[in-house]
Amino acid sequence: MTRPQHQPFRAQPASSAAARAEAQPPAGPPPLAPDAKVDLQAARAESGVEKVLTELDTDLVGMVPVKARIAEIAALLLVDGQRARFGLSGSTPGLHMSFTGSPGTGKTTVALRMAEMLHRLGYSRRGHLVSVTRDDLVGQYVGHTAPKTKDALKRAMGGVLFIDEAYYLFRAENERDYGQEAIEILLQVMEEHRDDLVVIFAGYADRMDQFFAANPGLSSRVAHHIDFPDYSIDELMAIGQLMVAREGYRFAESTLPVLREYLSRRSRQPRFANARSVRNALERARLRHANRLLESGLPVSRDDLMELRPEDFLSSRVFTDPVDGTPAGPATG
Ligand SMILES: Nc1ncnc2c1ncn2[C@@H]1O[C@H](COP(=O)(O)OP(=O)(O)OP(=O)(O)O)[C@@H](O)[C@H]1O
Ligand SMILES: [Mg+2]
Repeated sequence: MTRPQHQPFRAQPASSAAARAEAQPPAGPPPLAPDAKVDLQAARAESGVEKVLTELDTDLVGMVPVKARIAEIAALLLVDGQRARFGLSGSTPGLHMSFTGSPGTGKTTVALRMAEMLHRLGYSRRGHLVSVTRDDLVGQYVGHTAPKTKDALKRAMGGVLFIDEAYYLFRAENERDYGQEAIEILLQVMEEHRDDLVVIFAGYADRMDQFFAANPGLSSRVAHHIDFPDYSIDELMAIGQLMVAREGYRFAESTLPVLREYLSRRSRQPRFANARSVRNALERARLRHANRLLESGLPVSRDDLMELRPEDFLSSRVFTDPVDGTPAGPATG
């Protein structure tokens, strides 16, 4: 990523960020005097990064360790930017990352915020995020992979390349798999354009561990490993509250224990996807709510239009499908 005081991205491949910095001293103001003082708090306020961190805190429930890591990275970049003002230009801090966690734990959402934060701190020209999977990078035939991978990289330059389920790039059982070619190109670009591109690898923790173990070159270029924990039932409830409030709905008081039971059962059923399962549950509840109001044939108030009631959840299959392999029981709550 381009340091705040450095020159903007140039299309030509550079041998390395350090060599380039040496060959072409950064344009911009001359370095501060060695005895000058800079105000880190002011720099932080000026960058607007505070806003990103505050929004991250208010918009997203829980994920305390994730938020802490992001605040640390923000501090690192802020200090690095101020070091550059004194001409203390070491190499750009490594910013490639891995986000590991179960489905629906907020990896994509946080990656978007990360892209914005890097932009505000001057480490990303564009602040955008390009999300790809294996199919976007790897071709079916010989000669197709390099152009696909390079195209994705080109689109992501100046921002973040988010590679979802990154382990599908690597197939240990097939050494002639084209995924290997994509990995080679990624490796090269991650090094050569490390000052203009951040790559985030995302996926399940255990598979990602295997992926990095099999590709030590990639692993050693990833500076920040951030783990996204599964949500507790309380956190899922809070996420539900946040989501309905945002959509102009609310839960009736009697709905809360039903939703809790719903989430508790759902979390023990197959294909549970944390916060995404909450979102899906609410979508279906909205559907039942709408049908309930229409079928009642009665005039409805503003309250009626807003309130999700227990019956909007109770007819879900979640209450009849088995949990943890136990036979289906009657709906509770
Ligand atoms: N902590 C949270 N608070 C509020 N909403 C959240 C939280 N985490 C995730 N969400 C919401 O849940 C949904 C799923 O999140 P997201 O897509 O970021 O998960 P993911 O980890 O990328 O999932 P996958 O691995 O399946 O791609 C989004 O709508 C997101 O806004
Ligand atoms: Mg995702």
